[in-house]
Amino acid sequence: MNDTEIITNYIQNTPKTELHLHIEGSLEPELMFKLSKRNKIEIPFKSVDEIRSAYNFSNLDSFLKIYYQGSNVLITEEDFFDLTWEYILRCKKDNIVHTEIFFDPQSHTERGIEFNTIINGIYGALKKANAEFNITSKIIMCFLRHLDEEPCFEILNQALKHKDKIIAVGLDSSERGNPPKKFKNLFETAIKEGFLTVAHAGEEGPPEYIWDSLKLLKVKRIDHGVQCLKDNKLVDLLKKNQIPLTVCPLSNIKLCVFDKLENHNLKKMLDKELRVMVNSDDPAYFGGYLNSNLVETSKALNLGLEDVKILIKNSFKSSFLDEKSKNIWLSKI
Ligand code: ADE
Ligand code: ZN
Repeated sequence: MNDTEIITNYIQNTPKTELHLHIEGSLEPELMFKLSKRNKIEIPFKSVDEIRSAYNFSNLDSFLKIYYQGSNVLITEEDFFDLTWEYILRCKKDNIVHTEIFFDPQSHTERGIEFNTIINGIYGALKKANAEFNITSKIIMCFLRHLDEEPCFEILNQALKHKDKIIAVGLDSSERGNPPKKFKNLFETAIKEGFLTVAHAGEEGPPEYIWDSLKLLKVKRIDHGVQCLKDNKLVDLLKKNQIPLTVCPLSNIKLCVFDKLENHNLKKMLDKELRVMVNSDDPAYFGGYLNSNLVETSKALNLGLEDVKILIKNSFKSSFLDEKSKNIWLSKI
């Protein structure tokens, strides 16, 4: 076996966790088409191929437009169950043993879908994943940062009834122009209610958004964070405190954060001993689930087996699993 084959085999055979996955971003065109028919929801595409060929993005906002449009086919609890179950089957294939998934309730409640419908569908599939495949999971509820802070409190209120199912709140959607400070009060309330916090920051936005996510939103992890290398003081802090950065390489290429995978800064971040790991973000839109992200990135950046091990270990270390479970998995890598 050559080095590439050794790394590819290692990635396939090693138990892994994923910490940055939007469940709505795992909606494959085939299921989108099926649900549009089942629910009689019109989509502006005539075929699965036509959907796929529309996936050319120039930045985050150009993607989000298509992503929210795709989510419109999700109506019933069964739809949310089916969506989540399809992702779980991918987890099984990729040997993901623990996953922490985001959902965007506001992209559904704004269309008149009940919060309970969404969470019960997702949770039902995750319970089945645990019973049938021993895959464990956590759910993170994201607020859409392009919306105002005020209506988010109502969503937080709804989440209180499902505290047993939701471990943390996060912040996603259009980053530029929607700084973390806009949601300071909301996150303060969420923390008081017992939720952990995470936030997308430094995907397209400046290092300042990473600073503010840490200081104002008290996040346990930064989602993406790739813009941090522009600020040496920030890098020092991220390294010293081993703040997890949930990097998503194929996403960054599809959304033109870097021009090509060979120019991604993941290896530089690893060399600076930052707590980075690899994730798939919205795999149905970005052309690859977790193992593809790991394999393609390893090839493009010439990562060695030790680098890949560190990435996988970092992911377990940064998960919201209890310490005992983390240690059991870490001992297997
Ligand atoms: N929602 C889904 N994917 C996202 C991303 N990559 N950045 C911000 N919000 C998102
Ligand atoms: Zn994301």
